[in-house]
Amino acid sequence: MNHFLDIHTTDPADLRHMIDHARSMKDARKGQPKGTPDAEQPLKNHMVALIFEKPSTRTRVSFDVGVRQMGGQTLVLSGADMQLGHGESIADTARVLSRYVDMIMIRTFEESVLQELAEYASVPVINGLTNRTHPCQIMADVMTFEEHNGPIKGKKVVWTGDGNNVCASFLHAAGQFGFDFTFAGPPSLDPESEFIALARAQGINVTIERDAQKAVAGADLVVADTWVSMHDSQSTRQRRHNLLKPYQVNDHLMGQAKEDALFMHCLPAHRDEEVTSSVMDGPSSVIFDEAENRLHAQKAVMRWCLGV
Ligand code: CP
Ligand code: NVA
Repeated sequence: MNHFLDIHTTDPADLRHMIDHARSMKDARKGQPKGTPDAEQPLKNHMVALIFEKPSTRTRVSFDVGVRQMGGQTLVLSGADMQLGHGESIADTARVLSRYVDMIMIRTFEESVLQELAEYASVPVINGLTNRTHPCQIMADVMTFEEHNGPIKGKKVVWTGDGNNVCASFLHAAGQFGFDFTFAGPPSLDPESEFIALARAQGINVTIERDAQKAVAGADLVVADTWVSMHDSQSTRQRRHNLLKPYQVNDHLMGQAKEDALFMHCLPAHRDEEVTSSVMDGPSSVIFDEAENRLHAQKAVMRWCLGV
């Protein structure tokens, strides 16, 4: 049994296996209605709890559909409706849920909740986003890049805007998959120094660049995310917008990247804030493939967790 808590804590060979497995599972389903069961049913007789303490569209639907395609069943739970949201301890919740279900996916606020759940659960726990990281998203992103433009190893990935949870998992992936990572944003929103140091210690070229145009020069992939995350106070909104406006991904900025550069965004996007609609709907954008690949990548993650 394996937990999938973060990219930097998962063995690189296992990560590579999951990406390749996801691609083969995707290929095997091509052209079939979404509800068609997979030829293999590795999650037959398995029950999976999906716990959400924050809103979600992609994570909720892709995990639910993925489990069902593999023959399992799901329980989608809102943290607020559980005793967890009313004072029951995380450790007790973990031990109780482990008696009912075979795997737990959780989207929560503090990373410590995820860690404690994993410590006390006797079934695999998957990180469906915390304030600090979003590893499932980046598995889908690596898969999407490679589907379009081949191996990500040695490529230049540029993150624009806030050095947030999704950015952190991208930095972790740089270390594990071996690609260069440039952060383009203001100093107050830099990624955590611990994560930068970790990637550098793994031999990765991590660049911090305040000038977005310079940052994007020669990029193979340009990535944006919302300027204000779910865990951020809404009162920072105006300040963030003023700070981050120079990092908006627009046609001019994409023009600095390589000709075949891709654009990604984990979604939901705020059109014409962090990225213009012209880029989102333009030829470089692979945002909907990225969203689709959440499904395939997470199916591979779940199989790895259960060893099935
Ligand atoms: N990208 C992502 O995790 O989307 P949701 O918030 O809709 O799950
Ligand atoms: N950084 C965003 C990602 C949403 C999928 C957030 O945490 O709100």
